[in-house]
Amino acid sequence: MPPLSLYIHIPWCIKKCPYCDFNSHAIKTDTPEAAYIDALLIDLAADVQRYAINRPIHSIFIGGGTPSLFAPESFARLLDGIAQQLTLQENLEITLEANPSTFESHKFAEYRALGINRLSIGIQTFNDALLTKLGRVHSAGEAQRAAEIAHQAGFENFNIDLMFGLPDDNFDSLDDVNLAISLQSSHISFYQLTLEPNTYFHKFPPQLPNDDHIFAMQQRCQQRLAEHGYQQYEVSAYSQPDKQCCHNLNYWQFGDYLGIGAGAHGKISHQHPQSITRSFKAKSPEQYLRSPHDNGGSETVAITELPLEFIMNNLRLKQGFTLENYQARTGLAIITLEPALSDCLKQGLIIQQNNYYRCSTKGWDFLDSILEKFIQTS
Ligand SMILES: C[S@@+](CC[C@H](N)C(=O)[O-])C[C@H]1O[C@@H](n2cnc3c(N)ncnc32)[C@H](O)[C@@H]1O
Ligand code: SF4
Repeated sequence: MPPLSLYIHIPWCIKKCPYCDFNSHAIKTDTPEAAYIDALLIDLAADVQRYAINRPIHSIFIGGGTPSLFAPESFARLLDGIAQQLTLQENLEITLEANPSTFESHKFAEYRALGINRLSIGIQTFNDALLTKLGRVHSAGEAQRAAEIAHQAGFENFNIDLMFGLPDDNFDSLDDVNLAISLQSSHISFYQLTLEPNTYFHKFPPQLPNDDHIFAMQQRCQQRLAEHGYQQYEVSAYSQPDKQCCHNLNYWQFGDYLGIGAGAHGKISHQHPQSITRSFKAKSPEQYLRSPHDNGGSETVAITELPLEFIMNNLRLKQGFTLENYQARTGLAIITLEPALSDCLKQGLIIQQNNYYRCSTKGWDFLDSILEKFIQTS
């Protein structure tokens, strides 16, 4: 069976950012923190029973939203409850997403003491004028301080989220990358700002730099990251050696995960008969809190969709995939990747090296064309 991870969604933020389409809601009055932790544990118990889970958990990711709004006591109760219901692998990675406006030394030291051993800090940029344009609730100074507090609290392993292609033609993202490197983060996620449907920015688009300008800037930033030992292992993820995010790697390698919390998704493989279930939970926090044991739903992934799903995830990774892993994760014969795989090899979009199939440089630029071929194969 594939490795099993656990994703936990905390759906509240101080304020909704105008570019964000994640399931996050501005806190209005007091957040029902204790009730939400109760709900998460009920939700988990229902999933464990529903999917007859008896495999150890390989990683935990507490995402959002802004999980760092919650008190250490809440996570203590959550992690205890999880340990009572599931076997946890030794030294498992436990990540918490954090917003710079929520950093206080003692709080983060307590998170660390609970066994949370990785942070993902949403910084986006260190430029104050752009932070304001992006509707962020923190300053550049607070962002730097957040990284310093992370170090002081004992987090050797933390990620900084940055976005590029921001609404200012004169801004150079290399300044952000340089600062993130100087703060000694072990991991940097570098995302191009996209205008997502159902966001304020989609309705009232800011003026963005042109594509050529963005592309040139991205290339310079990638080069700088490489010079400082940050290896790109996925479309947007760069890490110091051995500091890749185990949890996200498991998603991209088509591993399994339980998803608990409002709007969380899960993927579970079954052996007899071999099939894959996708689960989803109610998006609205209110609805979720009303019936945490029975909300959302699930569906079996059609066999015809599996080749594309596997490829879509694995080709995001620089190292690509092996045919053995394809068979193990999907339960399908290798022939089901044809004729798309042979076509891509012939056209130089995918290359084969030491048993691994991965995108060529040309393939990275034509990822959509590759996926199109696998859609036709399905
Ligand atoms: C789920 S958010 C959580 C981060 C945290 N809540 C924060 O913003 O402080 C994860 C990351 O996705 C990225 N992101 C969100 N919306 C995006 C967009 N429209 N375009 C590009 N990246 C985006 C941001 O870098 C963000 O930090
Ligand atoms: S703080 Fe993060 S999750 Fe919340 S709205 Fe902003 S980008 Fe989205």
